[in-house]
Amino acid sequence: MKIFLDTANLESIKKFNDMGLLDGITTNPSLMSKEGGNPKDAMEEITKIIQGDVSLEVVSTDYSGMLEEGKRLREYGDNVVVKVPMTPDGLKACKSFSSQGIPVNVTLIFSANQALLAAKSGAKYVSPFIGRLDDIGQDGMNLIKEIKEIFSNYTFETQILVASVRHPLHVIDAAKIGADVVTLPPGVLDKMLQHPLTKIGLDNFLADWEKLKQKNPDTKI
Ligand code: G3P
Repeated sequence: MKIFLDTANLESIKKFNDMGLLDGITTNPSLMSKEGGNPKDAMEEITKIIQGDVSLEVVSTDYSGMLEEGKRLREYGDNVVVKVPMTPDGLKACKSFSSQGIPVNVTLIFSANQALLAAKSGAKYVSPFIGRLDDIGQDGMNLIKEIKEIFSNYTFETQILVASVRHPLHVIDAAKIGADVVTLPPGVLDKMLQHPLTKIGLDNFLADWEKLKQKNPDTKI
């Protein structure tokens, strides 16, 4: 399963990219706004740092506006995936971009039917928002199961990009189902790195080594 980071924060992107964990990045207007800087600078930097797919989202809601914005977004790099909303105009733009060989991520997917339609329009990725479904008392992960079953019945090349991930258990469940990609807020990836027994184990190793060094002051590794 590929791991994308769901952020426009350059520090987090560099941190996890240096660990070799990132296959790509997803952004959206809210994530850009959270960082507060000039989005142009952020988009330039992110597409330089990351070799894999970087989803940059349009903000026009009409077809021709999406086409113009998508073309401008693609100027940031060949790794740019144009992110469009799951609307009739969004799907029309998706069809147009994909027929020109421009990859598209269809976002704000909340039902299996929406995922099916986005795949038919030629999307490279569909982004079901599981956390937001959980928030309203629906089972977000069940949507991933449904989409996986539907896509595997046919020959769609569209990848399931699990979005709106809230905690590490979401990641394990998505991997068990066989989702293609999860996009993670930096905080979730941080939590996945940690286990209390790892910290206790390391503290013990270091304390024992200190004892040994007191008896053998010249010892070095
Ligand atoms: O990429 C967007 C998606 O992951 C949104 O997440 O936490 O705002 O529901 P959230």
